[in-house]
Amino acid sequence: MAISSAWLVFCFLFLRHAVVELEASHHVYRNLQVSSSPSEHQPYRTSYHFQPPQNWINDPNGPMIYRGLYHLFYQYNPKGAVWGNIVWAHSTSTDLVNWTPHEPAIYPSQPSDINGCWSGSTTILPWGTPVFLYTGIDPQNHQVQNLAIPKNLSDPYLREWVKSPKNPLMAPTSANQINSSSFRDPTSAWLGPDGTWRVIIGSKRHTRGLAILYRSKDFIRWVKSQHPLHSAKDTGMWECPDFFPVMVNSKLGVDTSIMGPDVKHVLKVSLDDTKHEYYTIGTYNLGKDIYVPDKGQVDSDSGLRYDYGKYYASKTFFDSAKNRRILLGWINESSSVADDIKKGWSGVHAIPRTLWLDTSGKQLVQWPIREIEKLRGHEVHLPKQVLEGGSALEVSGVTAVQADVEVSFGISELEKAEMLNPSWTNPQVLCSKKGASVKGGLGPFGLLVLASKGLQEYTAVFFRIFKGQDKYVVLMCSDQSRSSLNNDNDKTNYGAFLEVDPSREKLSLRSLIDHSIVESFGGKGKACITARVYPTLAIDDKAHLHVFNNGTENVQFTVSAWSMKKAHLS
Ligand SMILES: *[C@@H]1O[C@H](CO)[C@@H](O)[C@H](O)[C@H]1NC(C)=O
Ligand SMILES: *[C@@H]1O[C@H](CO)[C@@H](O)[C@H](O)[C@H]1NC(C)=O
Ligand SMILES: *[C@@H]1O[C@H](CO)[C@@H](O)[C@H](O)[C@H]1NC(C)=O
Ligand SMILES: *[C@@H]1O[C@H](CO)[C@@H](O)[C@H](O)[C@H]1NC(C)=O
Repeated sequence: MAISSAWLVFCFLFLRHAVVELEASHHVYRNLQVSSSPSEHQPYRTSYHFQPPQNWINDPNGPMIYRGLYHLFYQYNPKGAVWGNIVWAHSTSTDLVNWTPHEPAIYPSQPSDINGCWSGSTTILPWGTPVFLYTGIDPQNHQVQNLAIPKNLSDPYLREWVKSPKNPLMAPTSANQINSSSFRDPTSAWLGPDGTWRVIIGSKRHTRGLAILYRSKDFIRWVKSQHPLHSAKDTGMWECPDFFPVMVNSKLGVDTSIMGPDVKHVLKVSLDDTKHEYYTIGTYNLGKDIYVPDKGQVDSDSGLRYDYGKYYASKTFFDSAKNRRILLGWINESSSVADDIKKGWSGVHAIPRTLWLDTSGKQLVQWPIREIEKLRGHEVHLPKQVLEGGSALEVSGVTAVQADVEVSFGISELEKAEMLNPSWTNPQVLCSKKGASVKGGLGPFGLLVLASKGLQEYTAVFFRIFKGQDKYVVLMCSDQSRSSLNNDNDKTNYGAFLEVDPSREKLSLRSLIDHSIVESFGGKGKACITARVYPTLAIDDKAHLHVFNNGTENVQFTVSAWSMKKAHLS
């Protein structure tokens, strides 16, 4: 109770100041509105992956549900298609599919954020009030942590936010030894049974990645813990940490403050050095306030990833309306900066995914939110049939440039699988070595998406099956090498090992195709790979979709493909 009264006093004192400040800074924002007009034909704009009408976007920030309405904030440059002038842009949605834009919620307006309003998270206080903790860049270009609260809790759109006059609430000092250039991206805070709030902030010391832990009784006075919640050597700066509980043996999500024997904890970090994310599953020891990854979890860049393609700066939130945990992520471009400026925009967000702990307890599973299926239009279904080695079959009748495709493969003669060389431990390297055109025994088989009529261009998403020491090993690849005749793009082949036993279950693949995005889910969400591609021929109604098998052995398959309708994005 001490907390709520302190909080109310704070809000009361503070709301009186806020009006003047907000009016002043609104004027500043209007000046930022000037923008270049984007170029004419736009074959790479998405139809159902979130993006604003133009300009640069990156990290999703502070996602939440408030009074039945979903809120998305995101890093945005109102002035252009490259990073800079960063504010928190704001959109709301009733279904996480169709979005209504609002004015930016947070923009530079006080000393503690005058040089930038960077990433952060929402915490829902026990009585339902959402608050932001976010990183501000101060006049010395130091990274500090700030608090903002909604101005009017009766406004369901939460259009205006007021910043604490006590900002910054956490700052690097000579005493606390925090690196002022490496201290950012606060998580949602969680409340212990001892009535103390905790939050972690990404950092590093030399080359050790750190999740610096702060504690507070009242959400305003934060004290740094002596030790981080967790750290790992040689991982470099940890950006956008995320720390949350997942239920054991249930797909349901839980609030960030839930603890106990029925949950495991997940720590995800985004590595500034490699632009990869990884996560571990482990135990949160509340007594010691430390997180310990489970035995066998890999605590480095070669660990588990949400997505083995282009995917970064992700963040989850608990959807209390549907009891699920939802993951949002930024999909960066793979084109040159010059191309981004020409098209007038850069960056999109992935389709929100529900995420839960796999029954093995060793990894997470992710699946596109159910609501996205509302966009499915005309369906083409091909019943079970054989696809001979070295053949392909066009799936016609859907808008291949904007589609949702589910294919499933059955393999009868597993003994024809190639031997796995024990040195092939890196799936991305293996996919680069064995692209779609390299014949194997079982595989490559999968989808050719965004394919041009004569197959001069296509992106191949496929599987290969190998015989390992004591089990079959399934490799999932997304091969961009022939995705575009334009060679000025990053065409890295992506890969992941898929924890599926092909002798017991079918190999399934779902791809969400959206003009310049191929977002793929293997093994019902056990491995995900997102690719950015920029076809020059396979655009608009000139894109085609095929199922292919370039292995020597036959496989069986069934496919369902849907034309996707356009979402309301801005
Ligand atoms: C708060 O929002 C509600 C709902 O939009 C509105 O009716 C009310 O006038 C707002 N109050 C203030 C002080 O702006
Ligand atoms: C602090 O972070 C900056 C930015 O990454 C880095 O250049 C600098 O070396 C770091 N300082 C220390 C002592 O680690
Ligand atoms: C975004 O993509 C560009 C171009 O491929 C690359 O240089 C940059 O490192 C990427 N950044 C992230 C965070 O993925
Ligand atoms: C299948 O293999 C043949 C011969 O190796 C190759 O020419 C063709 O491009 C491959 N198909 C795909 C989709 O890569």
